[in-house]
Amino acid sequence: QQVGVLKGKHVVISAGGTVEPIDPVRYISNRSSGKMGYALAQAAVEQGAQVTLVSATTTLPDPIGVKTIHIQSAQDLSDQMIAALPEADVMIMAAAVSDYRMGEPATNKLKKQESGQLTLTLVENPDILAQLGAMKEQQYLVGFAAETQNLLTYAQKKLVKKNADMLIANDVSKDQVGFGYDTNQVTILTKNHEPQVLPLQSKLAVAREVMQKISKAIN
Ligand code: PMT
Repeated sequence: QQVGVLKGKHVVISAGGTVEPIDPVRYISNRSSGKMGYALAQAAVEQGAQVTLVSATTTLPDPIGVKTIHIQSAQDLSDQMIAALPEADVMIMAAAVSDYRMGEPATNKLKKQESGQLTLTLVENPDILAQLGAMKEQQYLVGFAAETQNLLTYAQKKLVKKNADMLIANDVSKDQVGFGYDTNQVTILTKNHEPQVLPLQSKLAVAREVMQKISKAIN
């Protein structure tokens, strides 16, 4: 492994699961722990990059040497990532973004319904990776694909549709892979190369391999 390969580069990374309020005490979220995104931030710092981490919910401490911005919702995350885009060399969307939110979060705590049923109306959130893909100029854009079936087919579609330069696919139906674990097993897709299958290893080891690959692509 080469060192200092991201010196002078600004890497912006999103991590964790977004939180969409239902009412003042309830929310919609997901099982992301933030570990993958935080490992990427650490690996980028190790390689000499200036790193900004936009973090949705996680219990992890802010990484040393990283500018960490805490956000809650997909809309907040979108605002921060778009604001960071002009000054970024590399942008990585490792956050698990809620595809939907409550159209109108309730201002008061929802009461139990007489009918025994409660219907929530959800509206679509922005697709941040696609937004960045549409806006980017020279920036190198990296997305993830969390799938439970047809891993490579779906990941390949996301790479093209969202105009990313690299897509990191993880099959989150597998044990020790994806949400919550300290380990991950990923396949890296880029536009002009064959998919590269990495072994099951720590998220930090995955992150270090990803940074090496990104540095080769941008330097
Ligand atoms: O946080 P951990 O517990 O360590 O778990 C890591 C992880 C499983 C969350 C991570 O490895 C991962 O796969 N992150 C992406 C999760 C996800 O939302 O995947 P997706 O296939 O639904 O989305 C595809 C890509 O579009 C992702 O880069 C995602 O950040 C982005 N996206 C999705 C929806 C949306 N509205 N906006 C987006 O930008």
